[in-house]
Amino acid sequence: MRGVVFDGTDTKVRDIEVRDPGANEVRVRIAASGVCHSDLSVIEGTIPFPTPVVLGHEGAGVVEEVGAAVTSVKVGDHVVLSTLGNCGACQYCDSGRPTMCRSTFGQRPQPFTVDGEPAYAFANVSSFSEYTVVKANQCVPIDRAVPLEVASLIGCGVVTGVGAVLNRAKVTHDQSAVVIGVGGIGLNVIQGLRLADAYPIIAVDMNPAKEELARLFGATHFVDASTVDTAEGVKAICKSGVDFSFECVGHPALIRTAIDLLDWAGTCVILGVPPQGTEAAFNVSSMYLDKTIMGCRYGSARPHHDFKMIVDLYLAGRLKLDELVTKTYKLDDIHCAIDDLHHGDVARGVLSISAP
Ligand SMILES: NC(=O)c1ccc[n+]([C@@H]2O[C@H](COP(=O)([O-])OP(=O)(O)OC[C@H]3O[C@@H](n4cnc5c(N)ncnc54)[C@H](O)[C@@H]3O)[C@@H](O)[C@H]2O)c1
Ligand SMILES: [Zn+2]
Ligand SMILES: [Zn+2]
Repeated sequence: MRGVVFDGTDTKVRDIEVRDPGANEVRVRIAASGVCHSDLSVIEGTIPFPTPVVLGHEGAGVVEEVGAAVTSVKVGDHVVLSTLGNCGACQYCDSGRPTMCRSTFGQRPQPFTVDGEPAYAFANVSSFSEYTVVKANQCVPIDRAVPLEVASLIGCGVVTGVGAVLNRAKVTHDQSAVVIGVGGIGLNVIQGLRLADAYPIIAVDMNPAKEELARLFGATHFVDASTVDTAEGVKAICKSGVDFSFECVGHPALIRTAIDLLDWAGTCVILGVPPQGTEAAFNVSSMYLDKTIMGCRYGSARPHHDFKMIVDLYLAGRLKLDELVTKTYKLDDIHCAIDDLHHGDVARGVLSISAP
């Protein structure tokens, strides 16, 4: 079979192998995978990851084979893959916080081989591949009415953005928000804010072409950061600042701006991932006014609950997935997909890997 391998220097489609599933594992035929900025960050070195690694972590597919102990899914099920692979038994899992499961965070499985050498699964998933092997609890079965191409996006961008608003920030009616960076993550923060009934929802991007998309997903205002200073543009709409700011780029200067834009008792949620070791500054005395800065991993999600909620909202016409897919690519066109993401031209690019 074939998959996209990053070897520390090159990113190529190569012949790879994946081992058989263990007792609690599942082999999934990948139908589609979104291309998230975090995949690009591995290639660029922003997110350090050991190599060789099979990339991709926003995937959906069809269950091909289940291990002897698996009862949660069966062959033929359509599934969205979660990146967590949490243990299900520790105090964090038990208290509904699987993103904090310490017994599995940072584990790096190597289910693949490339030219006989073991290869890592990126984010426990590796969805830029025809097949993968994951833990059974990473497979969230979904209604067949959801096309797998759009379902794939639930596995990172959608759950991260919507979860940041509903699970982490817990935004409510009429609270004001700014979203810096209208990519796959930012657009889903915007639609999470729409679900939470926030107002106003101010989107900010360097790329003026993102205005139409931002408004489609629920932004009530747009600040074009290529022509207007972000802080001035936002203050012109919310004079005393906003209740919530979401940084969805991963840049220390934008994190600073996001904190500076907070109204009293405001909360800044950091979603973007800058290079490891990056420091960001803020004005300490401004924080005494009950302000909060918070990080957020994977939408602070409970995948089996949240993926189902997202699918239900999509099927009820209350959450947009189809509109997130700007372009689809074959596995062989991975470089095109990466280029388009790099240039900020897409909401999401999706690799279409096998027929459902
Ligand atoms: N916290 C998490 O769990 C989590 C999960 C997934 C992705 N991420 C991170 O979120 C970030 C965004 O990912 P994505 O897939 O949405 O990326 P993306 O490339 O699709 O979107 C980034 C957007 O930011 C805009 N932008 C760039 N510089 C800007 C600036 N100076 N001002 C305003 N806008 C600017 C770009 O035009 C683009 O629209 C990445 O750092 C990624 O690694 C975090
Ligand atoms: Zn991602
Ligand atoms: Zn656990």
